[in-house]
Amino acid sequence: MITQDIQHAIDVLRQRDVVAIPTETVYGLAGNAYDEVAVKKIYALKQRPLYNPLIVHIASADRLSTVAQHIPDKAYQLAKQCWPGPLTMVLNKKNHIPDVVTAQQSTVAVRVPQHPLTQALLAQIDFPLAAPSANPFGSISPTRASHVAQYFGKNLEVILDGGDCMQGIESTIVGFSGEQVIVYRMGSISIEQLEKEIGRVEVVTHASNSPQAPGMLSRHYAPQTPLYVTEVPEAMLAQTSITRIGVLRFQSALQHPNIIHQEILSPSGNFAEAAKNLYAAMHRLDNCGAQVIIAERLPDYDLGKTINDKLQRASQT
Ligand code: TXA
Ligand code: MG
Repeated sequence: MITQDIQHAIDVLRQRDVVAIPTETVYGLAGNAYDEVAVKKIYALKQRPLYNPLIVHIASADRLSTVAQHIPDKAYQLAKQCWPGPLTMVLNKKNHIPDVVTAQQSTVAVRVPQHPLTQALLAQIDFPLAAPSANPFGSISPTRASHVAQYFGKNLEVILDGGDCMQGIESTIVGFSGEQVIVYRMGSISIEQLEKEIGRVEVVTHASNSPQAPGMLSRHYAPQTPLYVTEVPEAMLAQTSITRIGVLRFQSALQHPNIIHQEILSPSGNFAEAAKNLYAAMHRLDNCGAQVIIAERLPDYDLGKTINDKLQRASQT
């Protein structure tokens, strides 16, 4: 049920069950992070492999020490500057965090989400919420309640409706090697913005074998329809004989008789607006009956770089 009833969500959580919650990035599938039964339900519902750990959501930075230990100074600094907000930090976990949350690792990923509804929810419970994005493993992340309902409608008693996610792209995930900050997943906070906060960071977002952050998986966030990403959609359109094509553009529309649906991310060329619209546009393109989706690569800096990373992982090539 799509609702704004926080008390109902709390009741369901206390019954060791799962609810969908809005955050400023994407919607999450949340359960009591201290309760293995609830956490296993999240993995099952999402059909997520158990090796892929979950993010733990806490109400405020004050509660960081309830889930993590041996926290580096830079982590405190980042918490102060970026929370509540779309930054996830991978830290040494406290022992009482169940292994199933962290996929047996000694680290836990933590963030303080910014959405008022979820903040109100977190303030009223005495446990953190383990929550991956509320999409089946590998598919496009949800940025509105109806996306979640489309994926899991029958299986969720509560989908908390917080409207359209303000940021629209997942949190940026960082870890620490000593005081060196390492970016594991590109997200709503750009590398440039992060470096303004904390100085130089290292970026390690592709792992060949065991992924630190399976946001690293090379194919991810993908529509059912084959998607191709290119700097010059015009050229791809000119070459193809496919007759039903969906197009994803940054600023302006293309003309071509075989385009059956087109999405423009930001007519004014604003990256934040483009990020906010990205997944909803991909959902619509995936449902428009096109045989392929051709997506335009954005200028490769700031959030343009994050969007390109998501498009690349959604693509065939
Ligand atoms: O914006 C977000 O981060 C959203 C909202 C709901 O908070 N959540 C989200 O969760 O994107 P999910 O599960 O789709 O992605 C979490 C990522 C995964 O790539 C996972 O591997 C990584 O976080 N992760 C979790 N725990 C980790 C750990 N201990 N070490 C390294 N990576 C970890
Ligand atoms: Mg996800």
